[in-house]
Amino acid sequence: MKLDYLLDLYLNRGLEIIKGEGCYLYDQNGNKYLDMMSNYGANILGYRNNILNKIANKQIDELINLHNSFINPIRNELAQKLLAKCNIEGKILFLNSGAEAIDAALKFALYFSKKTKIIAMKNSYHGKTLGSLSVTYNSKYKTNLNDILIKVDFIDYGNFDELLSYINQQIGVIIIEPIQGDGGINLLPTGYLEQLSKLCQKNKIVLIIDEIQTGLGRTGKFLASQWEEVSPDIICLGKGIANGFPLSAVIVKEEIAKSLPKFFHTSTFGGNLVACSVALKITELLNDDFLNKIKEKGDYLIKRLKEINSPLLKDIRGKGLMIGIEVNNKRTEIIKKLQENFILTIPAGDNVIRLLPPYIISLKDIDYFIEKFKEVIKNV
Ligand SMILES: Cc1ncc(COP(=O)(O)O)c(C=O)c1O
Repeated sequence: MKLDYLLDLYLNRGLEIIKGEGCYLYDQNGNKYLDMMSNYGANILGYRNNILNKIANKQIDELINLHNSFINPIRNELAQKLLAKCNIEGKILFLNSGAEAIDAALKFALYFSKKTKIIAMKNSYHGKTLGSLSVTYNSKYKTNLNDILIKVDFIDYGNFDELLSYINQQIGVIIIEPIQGDGGINLLPTGYLEQLSKLCQKNKIVLIIDEIQTGLGRTGKFLASQWEEVSPDIICLGKGIANGFPLSAVIVKEEIAKSLPKFFHTSTFGGNLVACSVALKITELLNDDFLNKIKEKGDYLIKRLKEINSPLLKDIRGKGLMIGIEVNNKRTEIIKKLQENFILTIPAGDNVIRLLPPYIISLKDIDYFIEKFKEVIKNV
């Protein structure tokens, strides 16, 4: 199929996908693909989910959208549930995409802190709008734009001593992903987030935790930052929050919420009711039992990957169902061959194959993936 009408800005996978069911996507010829990427982490409960589809259809029938100058009980309840799940006393602003949530978070944090300097991490990914791009590390996304982006200091991810050397009176904001996704599935040393959180509190620095990819159960906790005692000032959610409906959220502590002037940030579609109704159900479904299962499945997948003996494999890392397979070379070829074998994965960093399967993946599908993956790496 020709793509003459769409801007050529994405990787072209050469696939025409027309339908999804459970953990599978189907092309126009009826070929069935095992989805190990859930639309870059968005379709956390897979496709054609009966419960969610029923809720969405009911909401379409009742009211699709409602501007935030009106109250709606579903949106209200969702906000209440998310605040409880995130363990934050504060308020929520609903938006539509991850990058938008990051833009708003940066605005709120800078406004509140009354300071001008931002620290972000090397290899970070926070989106591609001008604000979020400023705190995204990869220079290939910023060609010719450096002069107009917000000035940011990028420091080594996970190096607390380096962070300490950057702290001064002008630093108003620190933004971090609990696990870097696009940057290569990079994990922080245990205790880092807790130390960071204390440091921010001591120095009156606003800590933004970007849970857009790691949140909503991806690592086996509602938020990945909940593996430690962390007290973020702002949390951003997106991607899986409404299983594919566009929705994101900026969650701010009460102190920041109170400081923001009216009309400071608004959005016509933010908190769309179809997305909110689905998100509300998702917050209910992600109970402790379900979250534990995500962790167990992730542990099993990591264990099976670690059992593979191949000179191509450099490292296997991750938490829950957010997993990176670092290879010595041939990353693109492996992803392509997996696709030819009807398995969809995505790249991350320079040499990493990223796995973000839907949480409903079965152990049988994990075993199937492992067998196919072994076959592919033997033959590339
Ligand atoms: C951690 C993180 N933050 C922000 C974003 C941007 O989200 P969106 O693509 O919805 O703008 C992404 C997207 O991949 C992400 O992984």
